[in-house]
Amino acid sequence: MKSALMLTLGAVLVAGTAQARQEPAVPSPGALPEVKASRAAAQQFGSALKEALQQAMQNGGPVSGIAVCHDKAAQIATDLSQKQDLLLGRTSLKIRNPANAPDNWELAVLKQFEARKTQGEAVDKLEFFAVIDDDQGQKTFRYMKAIPTAALCLSCHGETLSPEVTAKLKELYPNDQARGFKEGDLRGAFTIAKPLP
Ligand code: HEC
Repeated sequence: MKSALMLTLGAVLVAGTAQARQEPAVPSPGALPEVKASRAAAQQFGSALKEALQQAMQNGGPVSGIAVCHDKAAQIATDLSQKQDLLLGRTSLKIRNPANAPDNWELAVLKQFEARKTQGEAVDKLEFFAVIDDDQGQKTFRYMKAIPTAALCLSCHGETLSPEVTAKLKELYPNDQARGFKEGDLRGAFTIAKPLP
């Protein structure tokens, strides 16, 4: 019952984007365990990041928060990816770290999220998944979950940043685009890939 429902949801969402993209990709029933695993992994990644960030900011303000995001975000992603046997990351239409740039599939989904937000969907509920062939023709399960901008994020991603934060960001991310966000904006998304047998 539950899995039939999830499959329908996936199919509806895919039908929704198929108009925006050329090749429609229908999730197979075999992908369903991956959906569950991806939801859990995205949640764990989010909590771990938030915890590290809040701790650093309590101890040393936003500038030490930047250091934590710079040094630990990728490490947390790598650790969780190994533990969960999938590839976990974050991406956005406006990136800070160029290593987080979206690929074509991610770009289409981020635009789809913005469109669904405009149509009134809650940002914290936006997710999308599909089974696609990657560049090498490998069947791959892909999953994305939107990340809303919270008040906590604004000292480093908001419209007005302190001179200290501005200086530190300039030093570490000379091409930073990830600012100017308001609370409730779509900041980006968790993104997960898992090659299928
Ligand atoms: C103390 C500063 C700081 C705060 C507060 C902060 N971030 Fe970031 N954020 C960063 C830095 C630095 C990076 C780049 C990390 C890296 O190098 O991978 C980043 C990267 C990201 C990325 C990855 C995409 C990209 O732009 O490279 C997302 C998504 C993101 N932040 C979301 C958030 C959200 C959501 C919040 C609030 C819950 C938040 N951030 C709060 C500093 C911050």
